[in-house]
Amino acid sequence: MKILRFQDLVAQGAVAGRRVFIRADLNVPQDDAGRITEDTRIRASLPCIRMALDAGAAVMVTSHLGRPTEGELKPEDSLQPVAQRMGQLLGGRYAQGVPLRTDWVDGVDVAPGQLVLLENCRVNPGEKKNSVALARKMAALCDIFVNDAFGTAHRAEASTYGIAQYAKIACAGPLLAAEIDAIGKALSAPKRPLVAIVAGSKVSTKLTILQSLAKNVDGLIVGGGIANTFMLAAGLPIGKSLAEPALVDEARTVLQAMKARGAEVPIPHDVVVAQTFAADAPATVKAATDVAADDLILDIGPQTAARLADQLKAAGTIVWNGPVGVFEFDAFAHGTETIARAIAASPAFSIAGGGDTLAAIAKYGIEHDVGYISTGGGAFLEVLEGKTLPAFEILQRRAADAPGATSR
Ligand code: 3PG
Repeated sequence: MKILRFQDLVAQGAVAGRRVFIRADLNVPQDDAGRITEDTRIRASLPCIRMALDAGAAVMVTSHLGRPTEGELKPEDSLQPVAQRMGQLLGGRYAQGVPLRTDWVDGVDVAPGQLVLLENCRVNPGEKKNSVALARKMAALCDIFVNDAFGTAHRAEASTYGIAQYAKIACAGPLLAAEIDAIGKALSAPKRPLVAIVAGSKVSTKLTILQSLAKNVDGLIVGGGIANTFMLAAGLPIGKSLAEPALVDEARTVLQAMKARGAEVPIPHDVVVAQTFAADAPATVKAATDVAADDLILDIGPQTAARLADQLKAAGTIVWNGPVGVFEFDAFAHGTETIARAIAASPAFSIAGGGDTLAAIAKYGIEHDVGYISTGGGAFLEVLEGKTLPAFEILQRRAADAPGATSR
């Protein structure tokens, strides 16, 4: 993918004294009191910010937080908690919090070597609809626009798309570039066998991903409610488990597409069932052929987990989206834990993304053993669907006329 990279501009000495506008994704989870409960995205935004500051730029950073109503900044929509956390992480002169500017669209006062955070960009009227007037105003604030917001790369909004059209220079920040590189390594030129794990409650929400991956992967491991629908398609009983019988034909088509390519969708041999969906529900391991009418399948069984673990350890590349069982309940976590540990132990290049997947990675402490952990939720899923995300599309278009753009 040919895009201009911020690192390259820095290396060329093109950033000193320039006004740099960074669109980050600082949309982090908060509790009811507004306290940040998980700060990965803030941490992931720091390399770009430090790079710009160290290069002597006047640095403006913005992000959306939640889905506020345009035109009104309610206290709960404010980036104030993010400004505090970012300041703590940066330390030094920002230890008490990064200065936060409101009403910034018509002008931002920031000097070279300084950093300011610009309030929730989604309260600006026209942001969601990618207003040309708003995008032009934001573009006029800077010499260089840096998109480093992979988590929002699937949205064509004024601060992610329009500004990239009109800014003098538009480039990808190190996080966005790293995500492109990791996804390219996993999906465009993967070391084979390429194995994808797609799990979750509904086939309907991931059908296009399954169809897209079925054209590319050597093994497609399905889990959760998705696996139940595939079990139905394979003629197995699933009792009262979560499934979408209306999508059995689509599941069958995926199975056939994989088979026609000599690839496989391993259907569980054994499963863990319970009578109720509860943490303390007694768990029973059964052969997949023996699931009773009143059983709920809540995990893959140990034999299936062991077989999948072997497949993952022999893979060249692994793409992971979704836990294969109800891993929040210990009695039904064995399948997901086995998969997680197999990915960690595998020599394969692995890439993982999605909220539940990240929670499973954190639960089993394998963060350092996964090749790349994506900061994208919806964006990661759209990439798996095979879509070109708007943020990449516009940066590629801008790179077509930029002499310093590199293709890697
Ligand atoms: C996310 O959390 O997936 C991104 O920040 C995008 O947020 P959105 O779905 O509100 O656009």
